Amino acid sequence: MKILLTGSEGQLATSLSRSIPQNIQLIQLNKRDFNLLEEEKCKQIIQEIKPRWVINCAAYTNVDLAQKEYDIAYKINTIAPLFLTKYIEEIHGKLLHISTDYVFDGESSKPYQTLDETNPLNNYGTTKAEGEKNILQYKNNIILRTSWLYSSYGQNFITTMLKLHSAKGKVNENIKVVYDQISAPTSTNNLSKLCWRIIREDLEISTENQILHWHDGGVTSWYDFAIAIGEIANKKKVLDHYSTVLPIKSSEYKVPATRPLYSLLDIEKTEKQFNIISNHWRYELEKTIEELK
Ligand SMILES: NC(=O)c1ccc[n+]([C@@H]2O[C@H](COP(=O)([O-])OP(=O)(O)OC[C@H]3O[C@@H](n4cnc5c(N)ncnc54)[C@H](OP(=O)(O)O)[C@@H]3O)[C@@H](O)[C@H]2O)c1
Repeated sequence: MKILLTGSEGQLATSLSRSIPQNIQLIQLNKRDFNLLEEEKCKQIIQEIKPRWVINCAAYTNVDLAQKEYDIAYKINTIAPLFLTKYIEEIHGKLLHISTDYVFDGESSKPYQTLDETNPLNNYGTTKAEGEKNILQYKNNIILRTSWLYSSYGQNFITTMLKLHSAKGKVNENIKVVYDQISAPTSTNNLSKLCWRIIREDLEISTENQILHWHDGGVTSWYDFAIAIGEIANKKKVLDHYSTVLPIKSSEYKVPATRPLYSLLDIEKTEKQFNIISNHWRYELEKTIEELK
């Protein structure tokens, strides 16, 4: 089966390319080869390759910078998914598109269901939510929402925390991390497995499963996650020392984009559909940190 992977140098795409199942021909295209700002070129490539599935990992993902660069984020996260779905439908293919918990406002007190109303708080979330709506105009596509994605490479919360634990731990300084944003981390390894399962089963798409949710099992705050990263990295001898993490409120940590306070996605429907249980986030974190040894 021929699969086209966009944004091939990103963290999720890298995990996907390291775990290609048998009988899959993966065509990996980076931003230079397949730029979502170049519609005509993307159209030609889709028409030439005629993939069964396109996995769209390309996105504008800088949440804070999107507050300044709305137009470019809108083109990549909102407009591009619309033309991708159109051209993919013309060749009778399917789109597996990755989206985010930041489409929600975090006002809920229970995990978000796939059909709950979106109400993003920042430009990144707005462009992703609008992109989802564009995709839903067509059938035969899957929107896979995930949260707090990380891997052992690239720039993400884990790699940032490891650097901070190392630098601050050495001079006995604390790290301050927000404790009032609650969700679940997702290792790209765990998410890749589900992506490949969807593709391998060549999933039949109905209105029921057009939107799926996935993250590592359990729930946590950035603060607890930061502590676990230091402790596990030290236990696994990836760090010689780690720093004390102090809890702060989001209101004390000034960043351009407001984040939802509670954006836990309900993954039960996906677990039932595929008859799988998501590994707990501590287990996935340990495995990811081991990759750094
Ligand atoms: N990271 C998270 O915490 C998180 C959470 C929830 C959902 N998601 C979603 O998960 C998906 C994958 O995220 P990720 O963390 O793997 O992202 P990532 O590492 O930032 O990768 C995104 C890739 O897209 C590329 N890209 C940017 N603009 C492009 C364009 N105009 N045309 C083609 N490619 C372009 C980037 O290239 P450059 O780096 O060269 O710009 C990068 O290689 C995204 O849809 C994201 O919204 C992420």
